[in-house]
Amino acid sequence: MRQKILITRRPPTYLLEQLSAKFDVETWDFEDQPIPRDVLLQKIDNIEGLLCLLTDTIDNDLFKKSHHLKVVSNLAVGHDNIDVKNAQLRGIQVTNTPGILTETTADLTFALMLTTARRIIEASNELRTGKWKTWSPFMLAGRDVHSSTLGIIGMGEIGLAVAKRAKGFGMKILYYNRTRKKHLEEEHGMIHTNLDELLQTSDVVSILTPLTPETKNMITLNELKMMKKTSILINTSRGGIVNENDLVAALKSDMIFGAGLDVYEQEPIPLDHPLLSLPTVVALPHIGSASVQTRMKMWELAALNLTTALEGGTPPNSVWI
Ligand code: DGY
Repeated sequence: MRQKILITRRPPTYLLEQLSAKFDVETWDFEDQPIPRDVLLQKIDNIEGLLCLLTDTIDNDLFKKSHHLKVVSNLAVGHDNIDVKNAQLRGIQVTNTPGILTETTADLTFALMLTTARRIIEASNELRTGKWKTWSPFMLAGRDVHSSTLGIIGMGEIGLAVAKRAKGFGMKILYYNRTRKKHLEEEHGMIHTNLDELLQTSDVVSILTPLTPETKNMITLNELKMMKKTSILINTSRGGIVNENDLVAALKSDMIFGAGLDVYEQEPIPLDHPLLSLPTVVALPHIGSASVQTRMKMWELAALNLTTALEGGTPPNSVWI
């Protein structure tokens, strides 16, 4: 009997055809919206493989209802939407899509840095709304990115890719990571610090660590207070790492210069969220890895992980905790 898989969003047609040649495939394909929880709960007992998105919560309640599930393949490198521990306890493999999205996410991180520091959205809005009356010495003056100090929280693949870009901008690079990576320090001239020192001395703080119970709420008012008044905070990882109420308070009291955000505690961030009313915030809709090339590669890798696991092989990207 052919194994059954569920894909929680519409995949590229050629991939759907490839997967359909091997498995009985069902897709959730309704206006590019996430699969409703009750539908997922109802379908989970019927399938051996699940290809899901970061918008799907794959928790133990779901696993309790699944008696045939062998693999959960996430279309993302982050896997905080999945209860990996309980999956493992039940012998369900979890896979993700690291590596291929590294450079694209680093590009976006850098774009957000420049946009926030140089007030690019504000400047563009001034022009479009007719507020640009003349050239003026300090009109929309931002902060320099080049030659400044960058503090990277989380020195994984994306952290390193951002650091490489920063070198080209003549930046001094500090990093904070659970494990010190001496070989990177030698190779790329970066300096390992503790979190406090990084926050106190960086002009740009870039969050690139995964969301885990340890990193949840890592940046609260306490940490924001340590940052320079002229510094910016960039988050292209996961929203839960920064306490948003505290960030609003810090920005409103000019504790820091600005924030560039691609991720939020709740996604989509509600339109009446105070963060969105602040001109010093650049807010993007979680598009870190959103280039056509990279998103195609992510689909392909997620499909390969799923197929390999269902065919009894070792998927290229298993997640273990
Ligand atoms: C991820 O992969 O975790 C990103 O947030 C989406 O590409």
